[in-house]
Amino acid sequence: MNILGIETSCDDTSAAILSDGKILSNIVSTQLEHIKFGGIIPEVAARAHQRNILSVIDLALKEAKLTLKDIDAVSTTYGPGLIGPLLVGVNTAKGVCFANKIPLIPVNHIESHIFANFIEHPEFEPPLVVLVVSGGHTELIYMKDYNHYELIGKTRDDAAGECLDKVSKMLGLGFPGGKILDDMAKKGDSKFHRFPRALPTSYDFSFSGLKTSVKVYLESQSAEFIEENKCDIIASFLEAVAATLSDKLIRAAKQFGISKIAMAGGVSANSRLRAILASKAQKNKLQFFYPAPIYCTDNAAMVAMAGYKKYNAVADKSVFYNYSIDAVPNLRLID
Ligand code: KG4
Ligand code: ZN
Repeated sequence: MNILGIETSCDDTSAAILSDGKILSNIVSTQLEHIKFGGIIPEVAARAHQRNILSVIDLALKEAKLTLKDIDAVSTTYGPGLIGPLLVGVNTAKGVCFANKIPLIPVNHIESHIFANFIEHPEFEPPLVVLVVSGGHTELIYMKDYNHYELIGKTRDDAAGECLDKVSKMLGLGFPGGKILDDMAKKGDSKFHRFPRALPTSYDFSFSGLKTSVKVYLESQSAEFIEENKCDIIASFLEAVAATLSDKLIRAAKQFGISKIAMAGGVSANSRLRAILASKAQKNKLQFFYPAPIYCTDNAAMVAMAGYKKYNAVADKSVFYNYSIDAVPNLRLID
């Protein structure tokens, strides 16, 4: 079965081909239009998706050495995300499915981030405790079974990725900031300064206090001092983020008596977070899953994989011939 995956929920236009559970191609076109604004402009994103989506799908087909006629189903993100961007993916998927009379599999963006783990780890099976950390989400989820999720904790303010992007902006670095900070932190000393770890006894997260604490710290130092110690400051900041995220994930797994933990979403590409969690998982005898960096940030391979699993799990395939689905910007994984 060949599935075309489509992802357009934010600022990445992506298409991928999954053939019987194996990725044949995964094209990601990240919009550079937003860099000058230092954040994503929804309307600019929607228009860029519209310009790019067909050529991104063409590239994905070419790389997989297939044509549209070889596609047996289309899986697309229908929420959560930005309404304009989501509509481009949803309507493109509808068009392809309607024209070719093939199944349309709508997928939740958060669930597809979690299912990114399946791409390289077929043994990724619930029960698991999963940390979803991206530019828009910070959620600790108990994945009891496929299609059965319970929320353990979530951010009360900023998402972890949002906090990283804002600190990057404060330091005059680029957007998005996660990868830039990650690379610079490797040259720094994480013990240089201790930034606060919020809500240590709760499963909820809070990153706006940490963001303010970095702002206050930077304002209290001279420009020369900041320039000289930039990598150390970044490493110390990322240490606070990684310590908070990893502590809660490990604690939840132990409390729930679950032996498997996982990460998903753009921030899970962070090297310090991966290293801390790998070491804590080993110490606590937990099996630890995380996707390759390309499958952490927004991509259509994870959408195709989530769609494939969903299609196989549903006995009555006629539900996938309902081409009247809509984009749902505030779609929830857990009610
Ligand atoms: O999952 P994603 O691509 O989009 C959302 O669904 O939000 O996540 C984007 C976020 C951004 O905040 C970006 O700065 C962050 O992921 N990110 C990273 C790294 N790569 C991307 N954060 C930390 N370390 C990285 N290597
Ligand atoms: Zn995402």
